[in-house]
Amino acid sequence: MLVLISGRGSNMQAMVEAGLPVTAVISNRADAAGLAYAAGRGIATAVVAHGGYATREAFDAALAQAIDGFHPDLVALAGFMRILTSGFVQRYEGRLLNIHPSLLPAFTGLDTHARALAAGVKLHGCTVHFVTAALDHGPIVIQAAVPVFAHDDETRLAARVLAQEHRIYPQAARWFLDGKLVIENGVVRIEGDHPQQLYAP
Ligand code: GAR
Repeated sequence: MLVLISGRGSNMQAMVEAGLPVTAVISNRADAAGLAYAAGRGIATAVVAHGGYATREAFDAALAQAIDGFHPDLVALAGFMRILTSGFVQRYEGRLLNIHPSLLPAFTGLDTHARALAAGVKLHGCTVHFVTAALDHGPIVIQAAVPVFAHDDETRLAARVLAQEHRIYPQAARWFLDGKLVIENGVVRIEGDHPQQLYAP
């Protein structure tokens, strides 16, 4: 499997530490901290810098070329902060996963923790989903919910959610690689008897 990152790469790290077969990590930013971690673990790394391309289509084509050189069975977006073209998404349809820091379909887009606090939700969380052309939509694989406490700030809430991201993303990738994920009418079912949600008080 191949992981796309833009920064810290803690979700990618969680996958490596869970024993998943991460064979390559690609970033759109040369300064992504996660690249050093991956290189230190002997994982192939590459940078496709988005600044070097005039259009989204040109960037996505270069990214796809880099990805395809590794022949990955699964492409996992892990804090990859680029909007992808529909052509790119179609190319990897059915083997492209993303993690989003909210309980989708609530709070698509950016600043999810601040927006959750502003909305006064009492439960927040994270979602792993298959990527489709619509931003932060697509069949949901697994979600984790955490409580929002009265005196939370964005930093505390983000950390509570991130700890759960590190649990559910490796789980989702493992299910995928084991061939357990089935999409039926836009809904993900897992072969066998596995809970697809967790609540972490
Ligand atoms: C994670 O919280 C991830 O859910 C989020 O970026 C962070 C990356 O952290 N992704 C998005 O907001 C995607 N829209 P990481 O680099 O430490 O894995």
